[in-house]
Amino acid sequence: MTQQITVTEHLLLHQKQIPGATGQFTHLFNELVLSAKIISREVNKAGLVDVLGFTGEINVQGEEVKKLDEYANRILIHRMARSGVLCAMASEENADIIDIPHGLPQGSYIIIFDPLDGSSNIDVNVNIGTIFSIYRRKSKVGTPVQSSDVLQCCDEQVAAGYILYGSSTMLVFTTGDGVHGFTLDPGVGEFLLSHPNIKIPEIGKIYSVNEGYWPYWSEATKKVVNHFKSADNVHGHPYSLRYIGSLVADFHRNLIYGGVFMYPADHREPSKPVGKLRLMCEAAPMAMLVEQAGGMATDGTKRILDIVPHELHQRVPLFIGSKHEVSIIRDIYEGQD
Ligand code: AHG
Ligand code: MN
Ligand code: MN
Ligand code: MN
Repeated sequence: MTQQITVTEHLLLHQKQIPGATGQFTHLFNELVLSAKIISREVNKAGLVDVLGFTGEINVQGEEVKKLDEYANRILIHRMARSGVLCAMASEENADIIDIPHGLPQGSYIIIFDPLDGSSNIDVNVNIGTIFSIYRRKSKVGTPVQSSDVLQCCDEQVAAGYILYGSSTMLVFTTGDGVHGFTLDPGVGEFLLSHPNIKIPEIGKIYSVNEGYWPYWSEATKKVVNHFKSADNVHGHPYSLRYIGSLVADFHRNLIYGGVFMYPADHREPSKPVGKLRLMCEAAPMAMLVEQAGGMATDGTKRILDIVPHELHQRVPLFIGSKHEVSIIRDIYEGQD
């Protein structure tokens, strides 16, 4: 115990590795960690208090908002706005860029978050998470924030990560110096380094996809999924299928065990085949993490981190995980064009 490293200690040790870092980043992260602890506490008692169920609202994504979605969003917006180091925020739950209220100090960072990921699992005590992505503004400090400050190429992220509310609460993040995992010790209320320098296995044995959408998939997507279901692959037997329906939990398992998570474009709406996952608050941060862990992330043909968003809530197909599986997927899609 005496040798365990807290997340704050870890950041102080590694801060110099963030280009041009000042104490601002550590401060931002400390606020994020506190928000995570508050949300974790609320998630843990979700069945005991009146935080289950719908708020009656429909969010910008066209989804019903859960009370816990809204609670997590409020906590993050409140704490982050007061960190003094941000110039703008964006959330899955808010249609527009969230300005820092007038009169509060500002800094040069921008945070984009999915306050609660996996909402459909809230009511049934299945793992959910929070995802975050951090950029630094390009325009001059003191001038109004431009939408181009928020819609930066995904490769410009300075940090990304998630909090997983599972059998224990974990914080997994990267600042571009590998991926590190911390587990919340509820006794002392600290995130302690439990998974230093996580590397995803090069070849995995798991595929994760909502196969119920099979009828809505293109022939290329069916070919991709058939590759993992058949014995005609590197293992000579089918992969195991694991799908929770919470990106954070599905991603985390595959990060540790190896494998691939897929959310392909589909034709549920016949007019436009699109992915479901949001580029800025879901795909991009997970892509930074997976690459830092030695894996890959693509939309089928394009590296996720090479995408420059054209709108805040842009959706994207996502194939993410071990190098071997993601390369095979990319080859299949490229061969179909
Ligand atoms: P959110 O709860 O933040 O809206 O995200 C839900 C996402 C993601 O967590 C998960 O991978 C995916 O939706 C599951 O979608 P399906 O139910 O269509 O499989
Ligand atoms: Mn949602
Ligand atoms: Mn989500
Ligand atoms: Mn969400």
